[in-house]
Amino acid sequence: MRCIEITAPGGPEVLKLASRAVPVPGPGEILIEIAYAGVNRPDALQRAGAYKAPPGASDLPGLECSGHVAALGPGVSGWSVGDPVCALLPGGGYADYATCPAAHALPIPVGTSLRDAACLPETCFTVWSNVVMRGGLSAGERFLVHGGSSGIGTTAIQIARALGARVWATAGSAEKCAACETLGATAINYRAADFAEILRAEGGANLILDMVGGSYIARNLKALADEGRMVFIAFLESPKAEINFAQVMLRRLTITGSTLRPQSDAAKAEIARQLRAQVWPMVEAGKLKVVQDSVFPLEEAAAAHARMESSAHIGKIVLRLS
Ligand SMILES: NC(=O)c1ccc[n+]([C@@H]2O[C@H](COP(=O)([O-])OP(=O)(O)OC[C@H]3O[C@@H](n4cnc5c(N)ncnc54)[C@H](OP(=O)(O)O)[C@@H]3O)[C@@H](O)[C@H]2O)c1
Repeated sequence: MRCIEITAPGGPEVLKLASRAVPVPGPGEILIEIAYAGVNRPDALQRAGAYKAPPGASDLPGLECSGHVAALGPGVSGWSVGDPVCALLPGGGYADYATCPAAHALPIPVGTSLRDAACLPETCFTVWSNVVMRGGLSAGERFLVHGGSSGIGTTAIQIARALGARVWATAGSAEKCAACETLGATAINYRAADFAEILRAEGGANLILDMVGGSYIARNLKALADEGRMVFIAFLESPKAEINFAQVMLRRLTITGSTLRPQSDAAKAEIARQLRAQVWPMVEAGKLKVVQDSVFPLEEAAAAHARMESSAHIGKIVLRLS
């Protein structure tokens, strides 16, 4: 099969087209013939040598895909060869074929194209597990998401709106802010306005989803309402900051966070179960739409990474395999 290998830690140019044997599904796994693979920021971190594949996972990049079931490993039920599918992958999505635990695969939502479906797993697993399961967002709450025009941000805005929350999103340009507004958020151009002041004037955020860290951390604490929660999913600026933790105590704040990839198969299967029950109906009702920036053929994976790291994109970047 064709695949994209990370030939050395480095910039997008280290991604090279290569040829490998088709993987064999183990017990409880399915083999997927991939039609499209989503490109995510963690892929760029892995390429740069800053985010190792967990033990047992493919060393090839690619955390999500859509396509068709090509083979079943021992003990798999509920899937048949030829079924359309999208899946969260432990790695290996930049290839014609990949394996994953059957419990991490989901049907294509009715009315969704294979191209759009490839963009759902990584962001939906991440947003649902951090915003709802960990962050406890509920109807009527005020929710702030940073990086509102990112793959994660566009998904978080729509899921939070579908849950009945009021949503604010930060973004770095007028065009990105307009995209956030279209999805139902009040956009804040962080280059022109102070998100902490804006949220405080509204009574404070009950929940913040942060991927920036650094100088945002103290401002996030300021932006939170009493009893507010802050969930970290990345530190694009920095994981370090000098903070006065007294306000965590005095205002009963919660600081938490998670990464998806190292979690157990059982934890990911539980997230998949909740997505199928609660988020796939949002997709099928048109409440959660994939915001897609661009599609690149597999052999142009380096160009896809360069676009992602330019931060010029709005929404998801996808690789086309077939
Ligand atoms: N914890 C997890 O399990 C998990 C899973 C998936 C993704 N993530 C993380 O979530 C984040 C979003 O992922 P994604 O795939 O949706 O990425 P993405 O589309 O590339 O989004 C990143 C966006 O963040 C904004 N940003 C704000 N401050 C930034 C800074 N200092 N440096 C660079 N960008 C900055 C940029 O938009 P502006 O122009 O508005 O600044 C950029 O478009 C990434 O950091 C990723 O690593 C975490």
